[in-house]
Amino acid sequence: MSNENEFIVTPWEVKGKIDYERLIKDFGLQPLTNELLKRLEKNTGELHFFLKRKIFFAHRDLDWILDEYEKGNSFYLYTGRGPSGSTHIGHLIPWVFAKWLQEKFNAKLYFQITDDEKFLFKPELTLEEIKEFSYENILDIIAIGFDPNKTKIFMDTEYIKTLYKEAIKVAKKITFSTIKAVFGLNESSNIGEIFFTSLQSVPAFIESIKQGKNIPCLIPLAVDQDPHFRITRDVAPKLGFYKPAIIHSKFLPSLAGLDKMSSSAPQSCIFTIDKEEDVKKKIWNAFTGGRGNIEDQRKYGGNPDICTIYYYLYYFFEHDEKSLKEQYENCKSGRLLCGEHKMYLTKLIIDFLKNHQRNREKARNIIDKFILRD
Ligand code: TRP
Repeated sequence: MSNENEFIVTPWEVKGKIDYERLIKDFGLQPLTNELLKRLEKNTGELHFFLKRKIFFAHRDLDWILDEYEKGNSFYLYTGRGPSGSTHIGHLIPWVFAKWLQEKFNAKLYFQITDDEKFLFKPELTLEEIKEFSYENILDIIAIGFDPNKTKIFMDTEYIKTLYKEAIKVAKKITFSTIKAVFGLNESSNIGEIFFTSLQSVPAFIESIKQGKNIPCLIPLAVDQDPHFRITRDVAPKLGFYKPAIIHSKFLPSLAGLDKMSSSAPQSCIFTIDKEEDVKKKIWNAFTGGRGNIEDQRKYGGNPDICTIYYYLYYFFEHDEKSLKEQYENCKSGRLLCGEHKMYLTKLIIDFLKNHQRNREKARNIIDKFILRD
């Protein structure tokens, strides 16, 4: 990581300033072209700003999913969460997008909570701690506003009777050498880690299994999860299923700059349970593209392209395209000062969190409507 151009994106580690164009090449993804966005828009009536701003930037077989949809063969959605800590704003991007897709395509959603994964991959966590995180994370998921009649959330350890039968069929088609090559695991990895990807594969087929016929599946995810589904897509035809389609998002950067948001640096990300004072403090201390003093800022302008305040607005909090553009220009020209911009963002975050936290409390009473158990 000594070189500024180096970055790492794996399911276990995301580090450095990510070059998403290069990632498309390295991972073998398809870029989300304007042509494909137009096709999406024809079906949805409008485009989410995540799409307009290319926060979702790549896909696998999204064109095929639309072919099928246009023929009347609708798809279901699948996404997930590894419950290793509190939810932060970065986690919400694929979830908010999944909700949008659910609404626009009237699609069923399976939401996997990989409590087993976090137990196997995080030496410091006990199953009890992970269970607590699972519950807390599920409140955040429900707070997004998914349709309770069309959304099923399950924890691997509690839905295992259904999942296991299918996971071993997947596992039988994957060799240890594939796992080593894709995930970098080795002889000293614990054997649960080696098996785990088979469990993350199963929900990509689960609706087909339940209905006894093939149903297309679309997986909105953050791009670090793609390696799992490269394997899933290899295995799918061998088991007689469609390959799942995928749509990939970028990462919300950390408030400290460059790297993605990480819950391991609590001062540099906003959690869904943060209080007003936390938000004020974190945003006040955030890294900006501003100058050292007001005179220079007025004279030379700031640099929104490296500014975490601008990123936060761009990725999540500013929904209005025109206003975002004005903020960008006013920052560059020196009309907008960092202090003002920070206050503007702080207010948007606090308003969002108030509403989210209210929904989160309400979620406690309706959680059973969402949970799948064997
Ligand atoms: N492994 C993911 C994580 O650590 C959780 C997950 C399970 C997931 N299934 C998924 C994420 C499908 C995206 C799509 O967060």
